[in-house]
Amino acid sequence: MLKILKLGGSIITDKSRLATARLDQISRIAHELSGIEDLIVVHGAGSFGHIHARNFGLPERFSGEGLLKTHLSVSELNRIVVEALHDAGVDALPVHPLSNVVLRDGRIHLMSTEVITEMLRRGMTPVLHGDVAMDVSRGAGIVSGDQIVSYLARALRAGMVAMGTDVDGIMIDGRVLSCITPERMHSIEPHLLPAKGVDVTGGMRGKLAELVRLAEIGIDSRIFNAGGSGNVRRALSGERLGTLITGREHGDGPQEA
Ligand code: IPE
Repeated sequence: MLKILKLGGSIITDKSRLATARLDQISRIAHELSGIEDLIVVHGAGSFGHIHARNFGLPERFSGEGLLKTHLSVSELNRIVVEALHDAGVDALPVHPLSNVVLRDGRIHLMSTEVITEMLRRGMTPVLHGDVAMDVSRGAGIVSGDQIVSYLARALRAGMVAMGTDVDGIMIDGRVLSCITPERMHSIEPHLLPAKGVDVTGGMRGKLAELVRLAEIGIDSRIFNAGGSGNVRRALSGERLGTLITGREHGDGPQEA
């Protein structure tokens, strides 16, 4: 069963300091991933992408230099993540969305998945990331890790989607919702807080929108706290932690919102 894990930028970087990786967290998570097969990792940009993107006015303003600087920065974070995985015994390989994604109006229009499926077939773990990308209608844009997860989950029919963040799930009034269905979104949306620090891809609101799209076509996902020791492994082994986003009733506890 194909598993897709997103590691939010807030968990693997210090979002308040330009290009600062949280090496302890990255290494811990890398060790939790050792031995897990059939896995795609997609990580966010955190302070490696959002700050550059904002400084260059992306995605509203086209800037070749902004694209390059932002891409090089997230690629640097990707290198750190891939190396940590390698050190933990995971056969990881980088895949850069700038080189295999085309956007249209900010959404993924084309993405070649062959390189990813070929890596998986050889027992490798592809590691993608939020990135800048060319956009056929707008010149260029930003493709969030969340959008990549949603696209790949749909294209490759993932059996599990786990979204590691720095919060315990979707929270309303200090309580974690165990389950969200697309029908419930309108009552939840007004309660979602804006992202901490600089975020050019919509924070939790953007994330939920992607996951609701998946739920609508029958692919469930889970938002959980990847900061807790062991949580990444637990989420990938199907434990019920955080918030499940699903199109069906799951008997996953009462809906609290
Ligand atoms: C953003 O990716 C990509 C760039 C800013 C270039 P994400 O939206 O996936 O990053 P995080 O998880 O919010 O940091």
